[in-house]
Amino acid sequence: MISWKNFQQPIVALSPMADMTDSPFCRIAKQFGWPVVFREMVSSEALVRESAKTLHMAAFHEAERPIIQQIFGKDPATMARAAEIIEKNFHPDGIDINMGCPVYKIVSDFNGACLMKDPDRACAIIREMKRAVEAPISVKIRLGWSDPTECLDFVKRLEAAGAELITIHGRTRAQGYSGVADWEMIGRAKQQVSIPVLCNGDIHTPEKVFEALTVSGCDGVLIARGALGCPWFYSWYREIAETGARQTEITMAKRVEYILAHLDLHCAEYGEHGVATFRKHLSYYFKGIENIKPWREQMMKIGTRSELEIILARIAQS
Ligand SMILES: Cc1cc2nc3c(=O)[nH]c(=O)nc-3n(C[C@H](O)[C@H](O)[C@H](O)COP(=O)(O)O)c2cc1C
Repeated sequence: MISWKNFQQPIVALSPMADMTDSPFCRIAKQFGWPVVFREMVSSEALVRESAKTLHMAAFHEAERPIIQQIFGKDPATMARAAEIIEKNFHPDGIDINMGCPVYKIVSDFNGACLMKDPDRACAIIREMKRAVEAPISVKIRLGWSDPTECLDFVKRLEAAGAELITIHGRTRAQGYSGVADWEMIGRAKQQVSIPVLCNGDIHTPEKVFEALTVSGCDGVLIARGALGCPWFYSWYREIAETGARQTEITMAKRVEYILAHLDLHCAEYGEHGVATFRKHLSYYFKGIENIKPWREQMMKIGTRSELEIILARIAQS
């Protein structure tokens, strides 16, 4: 189990991302030293129904530890039961509650960021979950539903209910992903509580980690989009922390080597069909790379792992 209060600071962790921070991606990321990873959200209702697909999503390999499993839901009893199922089956190092997802499908059913509109319910969820499991409970929120100062009171309520760590994405639900993450407001929220608070949003390069920590005064950061196609984000961050600059160049040959390792794990997890679902990762791995367009078009058409391996090997040699 993780002890957030005693965890080495600053905490630089991989943020939960649906369809992205699955077991294969987390295993690749761990090779670059991430001290803790948050796995993609799973539905509490599906867990309670014992959906095989959802249970599979929550499974992980020991190499991914310490690992935090995120769950979403609106009903305190269901969330507590879901946490129990997660703990009994998988024993993650912590359980995180999603109170920040802005997607219509989630909030229209009173899940995700919608819980920020009902602090009593949000707190009841934490209390029930804490009664049900030993794992530390953390919460991921936004600045607010529509007003960015909503988090200032909300975090106090979460702490009083028993949350042991809070991550704040520096946007409101109304903003979605537009505008700029407000690290100063996150910093104001951090001042309201004594538990560790993580700053999240727009920390897209390892250099930005230091800026976000300085501006917010937080105990750490969660990195989401910056780690997509860049699982080595954390090792660059360490190099900068230790020497003042990135040291390791990710050559095209190395990039392809890492992609192939990821592809292997992905296909071992999802079978041959995994090649199609791996395309989303390929887009990120080659984002912003010069002269990749003709290769990209070929990659998006292939259907088998061996075809993709051939193209990747050609890219490495080109
Ligand atoms: C593809 C994708 C999936 C996401 N899924 C989740 C999720 O399952 N749970 C969650 O709390 N946040 C989720 N998020 C939000 C991120 O964890 C993070 O809060 C947000 O992207 C802002 O951080 P960034 O600027 O570093 O990307 C997701 C974001 C993306 C881009």
